[in-house]
Parts: sequence; C-alpha cells; structure tokens
Amino acid sequence: MLEALEQLGASARAELAAAGDPASLDAWKSAYIGPKGKVKAALGNMKNVPAGDRPAYGARVNALSRELEAAFGERQAALGVKAGASASSGPALDATEPGVMFTSGPGRQHILTRVRDELVEVFARMGFAVAEGPELEDDEHNFVKLNIPPSHPAREPIDNFYVDDPATTPRPRMLRSQTSTVQVRTMERAVAAGGGELRSPIRIIAPGRVYRPDAVDATHSFMFHQIEGLYIDQQVSMAELKTTLIQFARAYFGPKAEVRLRPSFFPFTEPSAEVDMKVRLRPDLPERWMELGGCGLVHPRVLEMCGIDPARWTGFAFGFGIERLAMGKYGIPDIRMLFENDLRFLKQI
Ligand code: DAH
Repeated sequence: MLEALEQLGASARAELAAAGDPASLDAWKSAYIGPKGKVKAALGNMKNVPAGDRPAYGARVNALSRELEAAFGERQAALGVKAGASASSGPALDATEPGVMFTSGPGRQHILTRVRDELVEVFARMGFAVAEGPELEDDEHNFVKLNIPPSHPAREPIDNFYVDDPATTPRPRMLRSQTSTVQVRTMERAVAAGGGELRSPIRIIAPGRVYRPDAVDATHSFMFHQIEGLYIDQQVSMAELKTTLIQFARAYFGPKAEVRLRPSFFPFTEPSAEVDMKVRLRPDLPERWMELGGCGLVHPRVLEMCGIDPARWTGFAFGFGIERLAMGKYGIPDIRMLFENDLRFLKQI
C-alpha cells in the first residue's frame, strides 16, 4: 500500500517536471492535488488498508499531499506563473479604459403601440371609452352571439386557432379571430350591470390582438391588431356611422382624408359595408384605396342575443386593422416590417 503511494509520488513529480506552461500546470494540479485528484482518491482508499497499517498510510498520504503542494508552488515560481492565476483568467481589468458609447439613444415605443394610443385618443375625443376582452375566447363570443351560424366558413378549424376540438367540445375555446368579441362582452356586461336590461347608451372602442392561421406575406400575418367600435343608442343611423368614420379619418390622416363605403355583408351587421381609405404607400406610388375593415348597423339578432331589446335600441359597429392604419399613415409597404423589429426601420418612424 505504501509502495503504491511512493509510485504515485514519483509519477506526480515526473509529470510536474514535464509541465511547461500554465495550462498543463492547471491540468496537473487538478489531476493530483485538486479536490478530485489522485491524492484525495488515495485518502479515500483508506478503507481498503488493513486496520493496523492505517495510521502509517494516513500519515504518508498527508505528507505526500504537502510535498506535492510545495513542489507545485516551486514549479509555478520556476515558470514565472503567478500563484492563484490560472490559464483561464484573462488580462486584468483596466478601470481607466474608456467605456463603449451607446449610440442608439434612448428607447421608445413601438410604432404599433403609438398608433394604437393615437387611435384611442382620437376616438376618446368623440366620446368613446376603451373596452377590453380576453384573447383566449370561446366560440360563443367569437361566433355564436355575432350571428355567425355553425355552418359558416369563418368557423372552419383550418381558419382558426382552436384550443379545444370544435367537433367534440360544446363551447370550444379559441384565440379570438376578431375584436368583435368585445362588442358582445361589452353588451353582456352593460346588461348585467343594468340588472337584465340596457339602461344607457354604449360607446366604446376595443383595440387588441387577433389571431388567424394565415400564411405570412406583405399584407398578412398570423397575429395582428384590430380596433373595434360599438355605439348603441336610440335611433342610430347609417348617416351617423359614416359621419363618425369621416371625422375619424380627418382627425387621424389629416383634413383631406377620404373614406369610401362599399356595400358588403357581415353576419353581425345589417346593412353592412366595407371601409376604404385613400392612402399613398410610398412617395413614388400613386394614391390608392386601401381596405381598412368593415362596418354596419348592429344586427337586431346580435342585440337580442346579448339581452338588448332591438325595438328600443339600435347601434353601429366597425372594425379596422391597426396595421393597415399604420401602414396607410406612415407609408409602410409590408406588414412584416412591423414585426421584424429591425432597428434601422423602427428608428425611421
Ligand atoms: N370583424 C370583422 C373582421 O374581422 C370586421 C368588422 C366588420 C367589424 C363589420 C365590425 C363590423 O364591427 O361591423 O373581418
């Protein structure tokens, strides 16, 4: 047993003599005298030593450990390696070296956040309050109470992010595909607050994220933002809707803004129209009509399903794409630019 210790000592000394640079010194140190080194292992081997030999064995291991520590120190000194320095430690920190300048300036809000805030502000001036609803919805708020029948193509699983299987779950959850869900939630809330009936007019906008499994291209993304509007009062007319939209367009795009309504169909409005706005996407391109979204007078069935008496109350609603509004206002030709977070783009806007 003691012989094995002498052999260990001999090979340790031979290898130490051969170690000629800080890296091999480091390697030697962990192989022999480090916490997982061979000297520690020899101490651990004590249990295999006959009981009578243990005091001598232990003493020899401790002595060997001290000898090798000392030899290591001498070898370091001979090679000019500073004690405590290791191969992995880099050059010492120079506290007087000048720092790196941050040239990009302070951060600021993303263009979509700013556009949303601008929209909220413009509509607030017209008396619209902000309403919210969950992004994880159910088909009752996304479809049923918006008068979208079970057979409607908009409900197809391939066109929606369902969280539950719509074929087997009674009220499947889904990522909302439109902010029109917030119309339903707002009407339900108002009716609940009125103890089962609507007691005063509603005037809200609801900006937020919506999700559709569309292939990404210059005008589509699987997630985008919409801003929904809902106004419920007595004898609300299409004329009021159009006036509101024109007022909005002038406030947001400037006094020369033009709005066009094209007859269309949505299950939750009657009559329905598509809203276009005249925009110039790039200085070198001619102006053109860009579709912003839809609008119309709230369908009596929708009012009814939300607990509102359509004989007493009427309303208008609209829903626009916020990215479209941002692109139209700032001449952004590709929706992907809004999500790539390329600082060269973001800094320009
Ligand atoms: N929710 C519709 C969509 O995502 C847009 C829309 C159309 C909203 C007509 C409305 C509306 O409020 O009245 O395509």
